[in-house]
Amino acid sequence: MLRSIVVSTKEKTYLVRTFGCQMNEHDSERMAGMLEGEGFAKAGSAEDADVVVFNTCCIRENADTRLYGNLGHMKRIKDLRPDMRIVVGGCLAQKDRHIIQQKAPWVDVVLGTHNLASLPRLLAESCERPAFEILEQTEVFPSALPARRSSPWHAWVSISIGCNNSCTFCIVPAVRGPEVSRRGSDIKAEVEALVADGVVEVTLLGQNVNSYGRDLDGTPLFAKLLRSLDDIAGLERIRFTSPHPKDFRADTVEAMAECRSVCEHIHLPLQSGSDRVLKLMKRAYTRRRYLDKVKMVRDAIPGVAVTTDIIVGFPGETEGDFQATLEVVDAARFDAAYTFQYSARPMTAAADMPGHLPKEVVQERYDRLVERQEAISLASNEAIVGSTEEVLVEGPSKKNPAKLTGRTRTNRLVHFDGKGTEEGRLASVAIATAHPHFLEGRSEGMGEERSAARMPLPLAATASGCSAAG
Ligand code: SAH
Ligand code: SF4
Ligand code: F3S
Repeated sequence: MLRSIVVSTKEKTYLVRTFGCQMNEHDSERMAGMLEGEGFAKAGSAEDADVVVFNTCCIRENADTRLYGNLGHMKRIKDLRPDMRIVVGGCLAQKDRHIIQQKAPWVDVVLGTHNLASLPRLLAESCERPAFEILEQTEVFPSALPARRSSPWHAWVSISIGCNNSCTFCIVPAVRGPEVSRRGSDIKAEVEALVADGVVEVTLLGQNVNSYGRDLDGTPLFAKLLRSLDDIAGLERIRFTSPHPKDFRADTVEAMAECRSVCEHIHLPLQSGSDRVLKLMKRAYTRRRYLDKVKMVRDAIPGVAVTTDIIVGFPGETEGDFQATLEVVDAARFDAAYTFQYSARPMTAAADMPGHLPKEVVQERYDRLVERQEAISLASNEAIVGSTEEVLVEGPSKKNPAKLTGRTRTNRLVHFDGKGTEEGRLASVAIATAHPHFLEGRSEGMGEERSAARMPLPLAATASGCSAAG
């Protein structure tokens, strides 16, 4: 199909760069899969690639700035290699098609969140002229497309696309559209095929996993889905992200507690601890209800890790509102938190609200929040020093290649000494030292032979600007 690009006998190459969340990562693997299907091989760097895809995010403003910086750099390379193709896809492309066209006319292809499947066709068309196409509705569910996974033993599995909520700070519904759930049988078939291919851990993805199935059956089906996937022999770990606190219910907690493969970790985005701000955000829960849900999950699942997202500096947030957030942070004892400074986004209700705060005020609150959370994260990690944890080995540690790295079922990062410990295998690690963001330990040996050697888990590979992930 890509005749005019593949003109020489030299193997043509591609590189996909991911800027966004896990869903973005999932879509990148699909775009890589389609390009490999067209005969492209993965390049070592964007500078060397024949096709470079930027899979963009627009959740906060700095994402825009980063994209245009990168495109400026690519222009200099394209001036030297005019045959190379530059593709911009993802959420920022969905939002800003015309701006990209205007600011970076050297871009060859723009495609949005609803038409990933068109990538090969648009690339072929771009041999004649720039091919820009943004749709308002998903044509082909991205999960139906071939994937080139970045890990042989971990897979992202999308259970729904889009979002039906209207959190006033959030641009996602505008760029991802309304919620559409996938059929349970399709999801199960995909996970069975992944396990047959050597995957031992899956992360189920949806903007609000707890409302999964409402559009299929009139009732949420997430707990049922967890139970059905738990039956799959050879699947060691199921993770999911994210449940919305308003829809997080006892049936999901029961399924988490009863399903062997569902990890003891829940990511429950708080956003704010002030009832007044939660109302302005249209989150549809109060701090009391939120804390009740945290208690429900901690009571039902011993040792469960609870992590969260918090936004500081929402329009009109007072020092009193911020204190309320600190109180909830103290009460919930989050094992880790992703903390964000509010960023006004087009197409969101909060952007037009009064009371946008000066940067210095937001920064000062943000610093206090991070300091408070780091102390709690450290205490949470210290509490497991002396225990032995099951760790899924990801490979050599980036900090110290003489050590190995992996994650516990509670999603804690562990760097450890361990000879002969293979990537993608389960190891028993004695935890010796705690830090706010990671643990250190020593391997006591491998778990039973459950899977073949596998590769690193990209679970933390999100551009969310994590300030305190455990
Ligand atoms: N669907 C997910 C959230 C996806 S966005 C959920 O509801 O859990 C991931 C996180 O980015 C959000 O939880 C929020 O904390 C943060 N975020 C979203 N919009 C933001 C904005 N305008 N400014 C700052 N942070 C934002
Ligand atoms: Fe955004 Fe809210 Fe939907 Fe999450 S639930 S994607 S924060 S609108
Ligand atoms: Fe994800 Fe960013 Fe889009 S957080 S859904 S890639 S706006």
